[in-house]
Amino acid sequence: MRWILAALLPLSLSAAEPSFYRDVQPILQKNCVACHQPAVTSSGLDLTTYDGFRAGGKRGPAFALAIQYVTGQMKPPMPLGGPPLAVADIDVIREWIKSGAKNDTPAESISNEPTVYRQAPVITALRFSPDGKLLAVSGNREILLHHADGSGLVKRLQGKAERILSLTFSADGSMLVAGGGTPARFGELQFWDPAAGKLLRTVQVGSDTVFGATLSPDGKKVTAGCTDNTVHVFETAAGKELYKIGSHENWVLATAWGIDSKRFVSVGRDRAAKLVDADAGQFLENVNQLRGELSAVARHPKKDVIVIGGEDRIPYIYMLDRPRNIKVGEEATLIRKLETQDGAIFALDWSQDGKQIAVAGAGRSVNIYDAESGARIAACSGHSAGIYAVGFSPDGTRLATGGFDGQVRLYSASDCTLQKAMVPVPVQTPAAVGGAQ
Ligand code: HEC
Repeated sequence: MRWILAALLPLSLSAAEPSFYRDVQPILQKNCVACHQPAVTSSGLDLTTYDGFRAGGKRGPAFALAIQYVTGQMKPPMPLGGPPLAVADIDVIREWIKSGAKNDTPAESISNEPTVYRQAPVITALRFSPDGKLLAVSGNREILLHHADGSGLVKRLQGKAERILSLTFSADGSMLVAGGGTPARFGELQFWDPAAGKLLRTVQVGSDTVFGATLSPDGKKVTAGCTDNTVHVFETAAGKELYKIGSHENWVLATAWGIDSKRFVSVGRDRAAKLVDADAGQFLENVNQLRGELSAVARHPKKDVIVIGGEDRIPYIYMLDRPRNIKVGEEATLIRKLETQDGAIFALDWSQDGKQIAVAGAGRSVNIYDAESGARIAACSGHSAGIYAVGFSPDGTRLATGGFDGQVRLYSASDCTLQKAMVPVPVQTPAAVGGAQ
């Protein structure tokens, strides 16, 4: 039967052979990438691209392993904590592997055509502009600039990197620095003039995405965390790499600068928060006691005090400096812990007046705390899955969140009233796509 059809309809046979791009990736996208993507680190496996799938996680190449996990031969069964995959879906993946596990992802088209979205992409970064007028949000191969109140899209800043994983504005708002890249291909820093919508400069960094890129308060340097366990430091003016710091033992996922731009802190999967002398390019000391993998750090706006968080679900507030009159004890610099979250922490922000800390991640709600007392002020709910980005508006009245479900939510920061929920990208429905043909 099959060859008869093949003779009559050769195209439909090739369509019947499982394709990574058409058949396998949508299954992974739907069932797996909430936990297996660069922004989530617990398994080290990135299922968002062919290369990530092939490279695998801790246990190495993942094609065959994936079958063992989804069939429950390997424990814990995948998708973790969820219903098993449909038998038909498992068969598709299995057939695709049998037929040679080919990558038929279309070659990257580096055109100036705006990205066309069939569904809302996962949001991995967002940031308000210092004047409070704009909200920059990550998209696929682009940054979306929205009116800060969610009333509309202002500009689309199209770049090369598939992923934008961090966004920071210079203090005067004249520059927007984005960090990201294309997984297993290249890391990239983009320097934008947001008012003109102009890409001033782009710098390629290594062979994988960069994490937690941050501009120093004086605007002169940029730090970028890398999967080769280093922090690369660039000067903003010409985008030149100054040096890299190799004191981490695993991926570096976030960075934050000290008030005077002379020091920065980096955190990562090796569980350490490391303080670096940014002028000398030298590691100074570990800030924290090692507990779980760290994925986020934010600094108090006016003091050298940071909040860090990650796998162990507890936000820790540390001073960068050991008080001189206190003996060096292991926790001499720990100021306070906030309450344990109900999921791993992926993102943190500290309001500009220093009074509030927002904590976001795999938990049910994004929580806002009083930074002085540590008391919870409000819990912002309504998300369907992990939150990877959180930011206070400069006046501290509003909190923006974004994550797996592709929606930006704007809450009142005093009581978490939801003011607006929106998909930041234009999404084309299949009907509209068909109609356009
Ligand atoms: C709710 C989160 C979650 C979902 C959804 C999920 N996984 Fe996992 N996965 C994990 C975690 C956590 C681990 C690490 C488990 C361990 O090492 O004990 C893991 C480990 C794995 C590993 C082993 C990686 C290695 O090298 O150690 C494979 C393969 C895998 N998952 C495949 C899948 C596939 C395929 C799907 C979708 C059908 C999926 N997972 C969905 C959380 C998840």
